[in-house]
Amino acid sequence: MIGKRVRIAPSILSADFAALGAAIAAAERGGADLIHVDVLDGHFVPNITIGPPVVKSMKQVAKVPLDVHLMISDPDKYVEAFVEAGADMLSVHVEVLPHLHRTINFIKNLGVKAGVVLNPSTSPVAIEEIAAEVDFVLVMSVNPGFGGQKFIPSSLQKVSAIRRLLDRAGNDGAPIEIDGGIDVSNVARVVDAGVEIVVAGSAIFHTPDPAAATKALKDAAAAVAS
Ligand code: DX5
Ligand code: ZN
Repeated sequence: MIGKRVRIAPSILSADFAALGAAIAAAERGGADLIHVDVLDGHFVPNITIGPPVVKSMKQVAKVPLDVHLMISDPDKYVEAFVEAGADMLSVHVEVLPHLHRTINFIKNLGVKAGVVLNPSTSPVAIEEIAAEVDFVLVMSVNPGFGGQKFIPSSLQKVSAIRRLLDRAGNDGAPIEIDGGIDVSNVARVVDAGVEIVVAGSAIFHTPDPAAATKALKDAAAAVAS
């Protein structure tokens, strides 16, 4: 995938929640383009993290945009609160939204980038009707809920299928984001498959130097894209 800029989005789910500001600053020193913020409600996924108040605090310290990933059962109820808190990109799961067309356009009308997320077991066909409307697509390459899980290899074919689907819908500007189990050993393959935004949690924050880990991942991704 020559000539496209690949963005790195460190996921704070693997950071020290007692020192989120320092974690964000370290990732930015390493060249992070976005900060990936995982919102888990203990219902759609078997884990609980943060809500709008924490996003608001992060917005006060982050220099790069906040990429907020909603893993919650009722996103429609909270979209406005997360946008007010400072989300610049907001993604919602297709598996929980019967009125996805309405939700995506509602998010866009609030002036932020709207993305749709697919779990590993969800087929690309599920987003065919909305493909022309979304600003980005997030492919889960692990089952959502935790950091530090193993990358699911079939995600590569899924990325290629979604790229074709978006291009067929005339939405070739919409980037594909990947989330789960990414590190320097597999980032080249996902970029080669068509990914333009790379989320990484444990590969960055479960290391002695998150700034250096962010830079290493960014360099490995850039090597394929250039
Ligand atoms: C999982 C989250 C991911 C996770 C990625 O539900 O959506 O963003 O934090 O962490 P790693 O990179 O460790 O798999
Ligand atoms: Zn995520």
